[in-house]
Amino acid sequence: MNVTIKTQALRRLRGRYPFGHAGDVLSADSGIGAGEVVDVRGEDGSFVGRGYFNAQGATPLRMLTLEREDINEAFYRRRIRAALNRREGQIQDTDAMRVVYAEADGLPGVVADQFAGVLAVQLRNAGAEHHRELILNALKKETGAGAAYERSDTGERRKEGLDLKTGELWGEVPRRVRFFEDDLELFFDWQDAQKTGFFLDQRDNRRMLAALVQPGQHFLDVYSYTGGFSLHAARRGALTVAVDKDAAALGILEAVARANKLQAGARLGDALEVLAQLEREKRRFDVVVLDPPTLAKRRDDVPNAKRVFTDGAARALRMLNPGGKLLISTCAHYLRVDDLLDAARVAAGEASAAAQVMAVTYQPADHPYMLAVPESLYLKSVLLKKD
Ligand SMILES: C[S@@+](CC[C@H](N)C(=O)[O-])C[C@H]1O[C@@H](n2cnc3c(N)ncnc32)[C@H](O)[C@@H]1O
Repeated sequence: MNVTIKTQALRRLRGRYPFGHAGDVLSADSGIGAGEVVDVRGEDGSFVGRGYFNAQGATPLRMLTLEREDINEAFYRRRIRAALNRREGQIQDTDAMRVVYAEADGLPGVVADQFAGVLAVQLRNAGAEHHRELILNALKKETGAGAAYERSDTGERRKEGLDLKTGELWGEVPRRVRFFEDDLELFFDWQDAQKTGFFLDQRDNRRMLAALVQPGQHFLDVYSYTGGFSLHAARRGALTVAVDKDAAALGILEAVARANKLQAGARLGDALEVLAQLEREKRRFDVVVLDPPTLAKRRDDVPNAKRVFTDGAARALRMLNPGGKLLISTCAHYLRVDDLLDAARVAAGEASAAAQVMAVTYQPADHPYMLAVPESLYLKSVLLKKD
């Protein structure tokens, strides 16, 4: 089966950009099933590469290769092996990492996080779904994971015309998944877990803040989920408060704290409301993290998302002791570092505070940011110090 793309898209796709948008497609053979692999051709009939095609999808074409190679289990095994090699020696002091990060690893729509011997897998598009058996076999063989659980319950599947899927894939999947990060024993339960269970992408930021906090200092972890940031800080002797609207996540936080013989406070509720409440209580903090969910799923959402950051950061800056640190972090592709800085600048004005930008950080090496795939950059964080 063949799909012909317009000349305007040729340079992009030949430059390893993996997405072909609706406006890039000139014509497609009739009868291509959702997610089938097609030969991609230029207007003159020349071979460009192979990719998944889904006429119904918002992004109909997802490139797999620029070579004339078969897309079979061996292909997926090569790509997974390359992903594992890319991470070799990069991720230390933990047995949990993202082993496959979709287009960034040349595997459109495939995300896999490994927690010790257990894999959490997401198949996000019609192509990955069409080849699910090949991909799952390849993942099993290359990662050696004894058990795997599917978390294909992401909204992206609906846009591809797919149902949501969760459940055991192979092996004996434990109800509670255990792993470690530095000196912390961590866990989550599938039934209550968000996404693939744990936000592995904040590992470096958790370590950065843990290194900044002193015993006895006050640490506020806003949008905490299961409290990765707070638990690291509590381990360093900080007095922590975590805030999230997900009661189950805070339940896990408390259970993990107990298992690690740590004290960690938690407040259930809307982040901005709890921040206002803490301010009314005249609480002071030495380190604050704001790590909200993807507030901007589309470009149009950016102004509202910036407003949420400004409101949160203004309250945080008012409650920070002099010299205190504030980390603001976004996982939205559409929010740029400059948007975070703008939001923080307005917040500092509202809080009548001066602040120094200490660091700008990006996602860790197991979530590779590939030059040819701008969309693979999503996590950006700014660390501020109150003057
Ligand atoms: C990106 S995750 C945070 C990850 C976390 N910092 C970690 O390191 O594991 C965003 C969190 O924000 C929470 N959340 C979303 N909207 C919220 C709101 N309005 N108020 C409080 N929490 C919210 C979600 O339940 C989720 O746990």
